[in-house]
Amino acid sequence: MQYGFFDDVRREYVITNPRTPWPWINYLGNEDFFSLISNTAGGYSFYKDAKFRRLTRYRYNNVPMDSGGRYFYIREGGSVWSPGWKPCKTDLEYYECRHGMGYTRITGLKNNLEAELLFFVPLQTRAEVQKVTLRNTSRETKKLQLFSFVEWCLWNAATDMENFQRNFSTGEVEVEGSVIYHKTEYRERRNHYAYYSVNQPVQGFDTDRESFFGLYNGFDDPQTVREGKPRNTVAHGWSPIASHYLEVELEPGNSRELIFLLGYEENEPEEKWESKGIINKSKARETISRFNSVEKVDNAFAALRAYWDQLLGNFRVKTEEEKLDRMVNIWNQYQCMITFCFSRSASYFESGIGRGMGFRDSNQDLIGFVHQIPERARERIIDIASTQFPDGSCYHQYQPLTKKGNNEIGGGFNDDPLWLILGTTAYIKETGDFGILDAAVPFDNEPGSEVPLFDHLTVSFDHVINNRGPHGLPLIGRADWNDCLNLNCFSDDPNESFQTTENRSEGSKAESLMIAGLFVVCGRDYAELCRRLGKIEEARRVLTHVDRMVEAIKQHGWDGEWFLRAYDYFGNKIGSKENEEGQIFIESNGWCSMAGIGLEEGMTEKALNAVKERLDCEHGIVLNNPAYSQYYIEYGEISSYPPGYKENAGIFCHNNPWIIIGETVLGRGDRAWEYFRKICPSYSEAISDLHKVEPYVYAQMIAGKDAFRPGEAKNSWLTGTAAWNFYTISQYILGIRPSYDGLIIDPCIPPEWEHYRVTRRFRGSTYHITVKNPERRMKGVKAITLNGEPITDNVVPLLPAGSECEVEVTL
Ligand code: BGC
Ligand code: NOJ
Repeated sequence: MQYGFFDDVRREYVITNPRTPWPWINYLGNEDFFSLISNTAGGYSFYKDAKFRRLTRYRYNNVPMDSGGRYFYIREGGSVWSPGWKPCKTDLEYYECRHGMGYTRITGLKNNLEAELLFFVPLQTRAEVQKVTLRNTSRETKKLQLFSFVEWCLWNAATDMENFQRNFSTGEVEVEGSVIYHKTEYRERRNHYAYYSVNQPVQGFDTDRESFFGLYNGFDDPQTVREGKPRNTVAHGWSPIASHYLEVELEPGNSRELIFLLGYEENEPEEKWESKGIINKSKARETISRFNSVEKVDNAFAALRAYWDQLLGNFRVKTEEEKLDRMVNIWNQYQCMITFCFSRSASYFESGIGRGMGFRDSNQDLIGFVHQIPERARERIIDIASTQFPDGSCYHQYQPLTKKGNNEIGGGFNDDPLWLILGTTAYIKETGDFGILDAAVPFDNEPGSEVPLFDHLTVSFDHVINNRGPHGLPLIGRADWNDCLNLNCFSDDPNESFQTTENRSEGSKAESLMIAGLFVVCGRDYAELCRRLGKIEEARRVLTHVDRMVEAIKQHGWDGEWFLRAYDYFGNKIGSKENEEGQIFIESNGWCSMAGIGLEEGMTEKALNAVKERLDCEHGIVLNNPAYSQYYIEYGEISSYPPGYKENAGIFCHNNPWIIIGETVLGRGDRAWEYFRKICPSYSEAISDLHKVEPYVYAQMIAGKDAFRPGEAKNSWLTGTAAWNFYTISQYILGIRPSYDGLIIDPCIPPEWEHYRVTRRFRGSTYHITVKNPERRMKGVKAITLNGEPITDNVVPLLPAGSECEVEVTL
């Protein structure tokens, strides 16, 4: 069953039934001010950091789901309804939610009154605009009452949920005209406040939650709304909220537009106060005045649209697959922006409290984002590298607000350093900016410890070399990409976190074949970079280590039909036919195939055939097989999940692309495409009841073949799947790959594709590329012309900036 449809022309997903199988959400903002918004206007806002600067409160995992948001209540005669259906859930005559690029538009119709809500965060603005349009479609004059509502969070989203003995006494607000200010803790150590305004005089307001709702009512039935009477309360402690009350009269056929603004501002310490105890509101007033008319708001909205036109114009494809095109041209790229902004911090599956910016996650996010805004990618690389330690090891995460490594989450994941090479080389290939390597970047944010970024890559590479096990393979440390393969953890205490317990690393023989494959891929990339910089000795040194690793993999990492996954603490094999469970894994087979290890000897092909046979299923490729059916203390969290979920034989969509790229190394375009399609959400739209999460974005996990309900997806939005799938489709299937010298053209497609077109902006020029496949091949470029002239290899050279060219490719 479907709950809506794609509107590709407007770049929207249109939800027509509010009862989606799970809240289907969108993100507003892509710089500093962010909001999450569901199809019924649930969600919350924050400034920069979902943990430390939470502006509005949200109740996770509640009954009913998705409790809390920016709500509007319309009261007319005796009836009360919400344009987004929730929270009132009054039956609507019409409902529609359009999620677009950085905005959401929700329309509800009841009793010949149409209410349209447009939510967006304008560019370079610390506020969410809410434009409310009320239309009287009846023949009578309407008199209605409108109540707005948001609930303030006391800034730190973690303590907001636990320290009630304090919180119930600290809340403070100010009300001035139509603006409600939230200033809890402003009197002491904070220099920031939030506000909620409307661009018209109000006829009342409320800021005390219990006065607004009544202690025994829910979001669906505030007492003041039911009675049609605001209480004009000023909150002192307890739970401050902001609600405006407006009386609106509408002639038949007329409409009225109101502009609400939910914003955030910071003041310098010496400019905090306007007068004793009264906050200096000049910045809020300034922002409010930028959006106090419909015209100004419409202009800001048009600017947002133009911004996305530009961003999405950097890569466009036209194939015969409509469902593919809409993902590549719109949603996958959009999701890449979102994962770039949020890493794994805030979604409907990530509370915004536990996890900040991941070292490995954010590096990987770059490979799907760098072509959009290279300057921001550059800044991110430097932020990430600044959290590294001198020996190459890393904090696993850092906080976006402070940009400092997060000690509570710890480190010791031995794959982490290598991803910095992946992210940085992707950036230089896209931009040609070798200069970034000279940027002075500290270790652990310690002033005075700065070295050129290049040296961070060296210590990243060396960290693997310096941490090898008995077979010459990389020691896994706390875990590798698979956070749940905890081979040194040995936890039997449910009160411990698998992710941070003290590990038994002394004497450990736990080695990772996943890191080994990743090392070969990144090592070669790093060597190539050295060669380009004229560091020939370093390149040679690196390649010697890479070759040794390849040998170690072939000798100790091959199980006969596929690559092993790891050796455990004691030196026993994992991911081998000798194991009873977990005989084969996706990660090592993906990375070793991407590296083409044992290509000549037929290892790559054998490994990928084994993946097909043992890991593939109707909904994608599962992570391991057979799934672990019991807890193995020597394997850790992976075996804590019931079979078929998450890292224990779930379809972890993030690593399906590794196999897909492996297939393109073999030239099997049909299989690469088959795998790609299976996890591509637009192809699951018709089974939304089963799939459950949004059909327009990738999910981290789809329940695997061993699960209770295979095909059910979870953890949508914030997943490395976004970047990896965009990277895979654009660079390895469609085969348009940025390199230091130009655009490599190397498609690997299903034989039934006759032709497609890609427009790619690269280093300031626009390449219009037509790929023709008259012989129905899967791979292999036969001829390329550039503006009609043949070129000899498959690298389209760099052009003078600003030029446009036609590239014709024949397979
Ligand atoms: C999840 C992993 C995640 C890890 C760290 C585990 O519970 O299964 O996917 O990477 O936590 O947050
Ligand atoms: C999600 C984490 O964000 C990512 O870092 C990790 O690689 C995967 N889970 C697999 O465990």
